[in-house]
Amino acid sequence: MTVTLKLATSLDGRIATATGESRWITGPESRAETHQMRAGHQAVMVGIGTALTDDPELNVRLPGYDGPHPARVVLDGAQRLSATSRLAVTAREIPTLVLTLSAPDQALVAAGVQVVTLAHREPVDVLAALEGRGLRDIFIEGGGRVAASFLKADLVDELVWFRAPILIGGEGRAGIADLGLDRLADALAFRRVEVREMGRDLMERYVRI
Ligand SMILES: NC(=O)c1ccc[n+]([C@@H]2O[C@H](COP(=O)([O-])OP(=O)(O)OC[C@H]3O[C@@H](n4cnc5c(N)ncnc54)[C@H](OP(=O)(O)O)[C@@H]3O)[C@@H](O)[C@H]2O)c1
Repeated sequence: MTVTLKLATSLDGRIATATGESRWITGPESRAETHQMRAGHQAVMVGIGTALTDDPELNVRLPGYDGPHPARVVLDGAQRLSATSRLAVTAREIPTLVLTLSAPDQALVAAGVQVVTLAHREPVDVLAALEGRGLRDIFIEGGGRVAASFLKADLVDELVWFRAPILIGGEGRAGIADLGLDRLADALAFRRVEVREMGRDLMERYVRI
C-alpha cells in the first residue's frame, strides 16, 4: 500500500478558519496540481468532517481531461453523508465508498454508494478494507482529524504540502489535529524530496524516514 497525505495550508499550518471556511486557501496552480495528483491515484480519501463542510466532488477537473477518476472514499462512522451530497449524486459515475461502523444506510445504497461496514475504524483496518477492493494507492485529502489518525498510526508514506503565503492564526483549524506527542524525540520525521513554486504558493514533498 502507498499512502500520500496532501495538505493545503496557510503559512501557519491552518486548513480552514474557525468557522470552517477553506475555499480557497491555495491558488489555482496548486489546485490544478492537486487534480493532476488525484488522476495518478486509485483512491482519494476524506473524513466525514470534510465531506460535510465542503461538499466536495473529489474528481479530476482539468481542461481536456477525459481519463479515469479515482474512487472516492469517505470515512464516516455514523453515515452522516447525505444522499444528496455531490459525492452521492455522482456515485454512479465514479466509484464512491463510505466506510462505516453501522449497517448500510439504504438511501446511500440506492444512490449507488458502496457502503462498507467495518468492525473497527483504525487506519490499519481502513487500509485493509481498501486493499481488499484492489485500492492500494491512496491519496488522503484531509481533514485534520483523518490526517492525524493516519500519521499517528505511522501509515503515511509521503506528504504533499501546499503552503499559501497567508496567516490565519491559532483559532483556525489545524492541518493536523492532535498527535498526542509529549516529547520532541517522538515527533514524526520526514525528509524533503521536492520543493516547487506553484504561482504564489509553495509545494513541498516529504517522505517518511
Ligand atoms: N485546506 C485543506 O487542504 C483542507 C482539506 C480537507 C479539509 N479541510 C477542512 O478541514 C475541516 C474538516 O476537518 P475535520 O478534522 O473536522 O474532519 P475530517 O478529518 O474530515 O473528518 C473527521 C471525522 O471522520 C470520521 N472518521 C472515521 N474514521 C476515522 C478515522 N480512522 N480517523 C479519523 N476520523 C475518522 C470521524 O467522524 P465520525 O465519528 O462521525 O465517524 C471524524 O470526526 C473542514 O473545515 C474542511 O474545510 C481543509
